Amino acid sequence: MRLTPQEQMNELRERVAEIVDLGQAAAVLGWDQETMMPPKGAEYRATQQATLHGVIHERLTNARIGELLSSLEEPDVQSTLSEVDRAIVRVIRRDYDRATKLPESLVKDLAMATTRGVESWRRARRESRWEIFAPDLKRIVELKRREASCIGYKEHPYDALLDEFEPGATASQIGPLLNQLRNETVALLARIDQSPRRPDRTVLEQPYAIAGQKAFGELILRQMGFDFEAGREDTSAHPFTTSFGPTDVRITTRYDENDLATALYATIHEGGHALYDQGIPPGFARNGLGESASLGIHESQSRLWENFIGRSLPFWQFALPRLIEIFPSQVDNASPETMFGAVNRVARSLIRVEADEVTYNLHIILRFELELALIANEIDVDDLPRLWNEKMRDLLGIDVPNDAVGVLQDTHWGSGLFGYFPTYSLGNLYAAQLWATIRRDVPDLDHRLSQGDFQVVLSWLRQKIHRFGRMYTPSELIQQATGEPLNPQYLIRYLNDKYRAIYPPA
Ligand code: CO
Repeated sequence: MRLTPQEQMNELRERVAEIVDLGQAAAVLGWDQETMMPPKGAEYRATQQATLHGVIHERLTNARIGELLSSLEEPDVQSTLSEVDRAIVRVIRRDYDRATKLPESLVKDLAMATTRGVESWRRARRESRWEIFAPDLKRIVELKRREASCIGYKEHPYDALLDEFEPGATASQIGPLLNQLRNETVALLARIDQSPRRPDRTVLEQPYAIAGQKAFGELILRQMGFDFEAGREDTSAHPFTTSFGPTDVRITTRYDENDLATALYATIHEGGHALYDQGIPPGFARNGLGESASLGIHESQSRLWENFIGRSLPFWQFALPRLIEIFPSQVDNASPETMFGAVNRVARSLIRVEADEVTYNLHIILRFELELALIANEIDVDDLPRLWNEKMRDLLGIDVPNDAVGVLQDTHWGSGLFGYFPTYSLGNLYAAQLWATIRRDVPDLDHRLSQGDFQVVLSWLRQKIHRFGRMYTPSELIQQATGEPLNPQYLIRYLNDKYRAIYPPA
């Protein structure tokens, strides 16, 4: 007997809820591994994760899901479904297709190649010897090209890979945006070089006891609206955010006893991610929509809090008196302006993760251009170190002394992550456009922020972004929230205005 559409929908929802549960259980294991697990736990943890991910894959690719989707996609059935149910069918179709289009042999080959890739990358970076990593990377690139052809694409094989992280985005759409950003940033950087003013960063570079940093970070998180009854903050080597559902969101940070900015901005950044995860409606938590619209949208939330708020003058007008209470001898003589300058110093540097707000996107554009050409087979893995160094000179005007601080600095390619890097810059572009809209909607925004009223921003983001989870594609979401498609001019204008104030012309 044929089930009614509602019964089919219920069955799909039940199956999806179990897959979500399994995924979150795997996330708990992953969080534990990074924060609590003793070193000897690694071996069993790897088999536990492999088993769990195998079960998840099996459930997601179950032919019954395919049957339910096909039936629920029929036009006369679609018209009887609610908007939420139609969205569930759409996103599960996407996940199902991505999971079923890759032959099992390719999935296995990729898993093996990237396990080896991460290992040889680590050794290659330690010894700064590209040739240790190059053979594994060649294999990974070859497999990623195969993956792209299995997934399918209209214009560029890279699009199939990009789509995993940024649904609907294509190289031909984001290429020109990033190119504009590149040209404007290079010009801005030249103006910054000409400025007679150099912000002094020494106020940040003093001994700051970790207990005090922890207390300050927690104060800022509470002020942002992070719910400690629905999340916690721990320490890990690399800060990250992970969610086991909207009422249990974990963030981590890391501390530098001699630099206040490290933990503070990691905390605000991950806090921004966490607010998004805590803002997912409970009704979405287990139905497949309880995730971010994309990595780029997720990153827009972290960057908005970290840079547009955390690195603003109003933020320091609010935060400095609180910091003085905890670290009187370090910051008693500082002004909000001192702090504002110190946290916004621009420096041409080799390492992406240490880059400031202005140069950061150049690091991304460099990687985007290289991986795009690599996937299109226009360049070879062996060309990468030379091209990397040329682009570093072109874009940032610096010479790369060795590959360890050049082409070997990031783990992404060894892990098979192609199409991931641009989501960092998309995050900045989305954040700037959202920020401009928030500014328009809240005329006394700076004053409110200087009073520590961050709630006004959180409410806006909850209303325009968080509550939709994965219901809309990133471009639909941005159009809806800001009234226009993604426009790089918002970020360009923001950077020019902000850094003209910090680095005034002669
Ligand atoms: Co982030």
